[in-house]
Amino acid sequence: MEKLVITGGNRLEGTIDISGAKNAALPLMCAPLLTDEPMTLTNLPRLADISTLCDLLNHLGATVTIAGSSGGAVTGRSMTFDASNIADTVAPYDIVRKMRASIIVLGPLVAREGQATVSLPGGCAIGNRPIDLHLKALEALGADIELEDGYVRASAPNGLVGGTVRFPFVSVGATENILMAAALAKGTSTIENAAREPEIADLANCLIAMGAKISGAGTETITVEGVDRLHGCTYAVMPDRIEAGSYAVAALMTRGNLLLKNARLPDMQVPMDVLSEAGAIVSEEDGGVRVESNGHVQGFNIVTQPFPAFPTDMQAQFMALAAVADGASVITEAIFENRFMHVPELCRLGADITVTGASATVRGVSSLRGAQVMATDLRASMSLALAGLVADGDTVINRLYHLDRGYERLEDKLRGVGAQIERIND
Ligand code: UD1
Repeated sequence: MEKLVITGGNRLEGTIDISGAKNAALPLMCAPLLTDEPMTLTNLPRLADISTLCDLLNHLGATVTIAGSSGGAVTGRSMTFDASNIADTVAPYDIVRKMRASIIVLGPLVAREGQATVSLPGGCAIGNRPIDLHLKALEALGADIELEDGYVRASAPNGLVGGTVRFPFVSVGATENILMAAALAKGTSTIENAAREPEIADLANCLIAMGAKISGAGTETITVEGVDRLHGCTYAVMPDRIEAGSYAVAALMTRGNLLLKNARLPDMQVPMDVLSEAGAIVSEEDGGVRVESNGHVQGFNIVTQPFPAFPTDMQAQFMALAAVADGASVITEAIFENRFMHVPELCRLGADITVTGASATVRGVSSLRGAQVMATDLRASMSLALAGLVADGDTVINRLYHLDRGYERLEDKLRGVGAQIERIND
């Protein structure tokens, strides 16, 4: 079993190259299902979730060719996807259970092939995470939906038809699914209360480069005029705002100074405002974002909400920061139920945290102590790594597969700026 051993206490200083965004890459990798022409994505991060989606695309009959690094370590790798022949429209349980985001193949497959069968994603560590919004949106474009034997079967033998989809609340994945489906539907679709996350605009820009007619992506109303066919293109995945935000927290926690190369400040303005309030000096610089400590860490309050508000995917990392801040912080999780599983693990390191319903009160302590901890989900793993960077002694993080789903070369990147961190095989 692989483990990370972090010896806390080092100040981080230097430059970290931010990788392509996992959450942008996954929907972008489903876009090739909409065209019979090959298409190339560049700046893809090397992550377990990307490999899982490649497995699913292969299963559906698409070929994936890895083109190696393009332009050095900074830009990640390129892959060419060829879905000219879709051999199967079933996304099986064995692949979907590994990664919920597999559900995003549903919209493109129904739009292109008139049918798709996707295993229902299982329960998830951070809450129930149903897919009802994805299904209702597809129904609004004329798909018939049936649930049988743990699978969703969607069919539209005569093609999808444009319609109005009004989401009762914001869903990133459902917006992505319906955006791709609407691109090939007959007529115009309007998506109301759409997610505004930067990854949505990234997907829309790629679809537009493929010939789709989309306006309003990045706002709450997206209009899609369906086209008969889409063509291939080459598209670069946006930088990962969550990875960048995580290292920004590391800079402040270790009283350090990091340049997050490629990061885009507007994509993470609200969390960086909170970081500034807590004691960071954040500035745009030299193709990236610089985060420097002013020497203190002050408590703060956050409530997670859809973009542009504070992202749920940075809640756990900011809780590690709050754990060593001066004074108390209140952190409210308003997107997912049960996304506080890092709390008992942070407490094992000496944090003082009380959870009441959807809010956690974190009373900052003067120091944390290294211990054995268990990563419970992707962002929770990062919060434990951050705590380990400032804890006295060694912190040993077990269950690394969560981290490997979403942080590319974490230990190399942290070691490169002065952290003492090692992956061991126990
Ligand atoms: C995406 C991100 C994830 C992030 C989340 C919220 C990817 C691959 N994952 O997940 O990292 O934490 O956005 O920013 O991009 N919901 C329903 N019914 C549905 C769909 C969602 O009730 O059909 C609920 C969810 O349970 C959750 C909320 O809506 O409470 C938001 O979820 P959603 O935005 O859909 O998250 P994902 O797209 O799964």
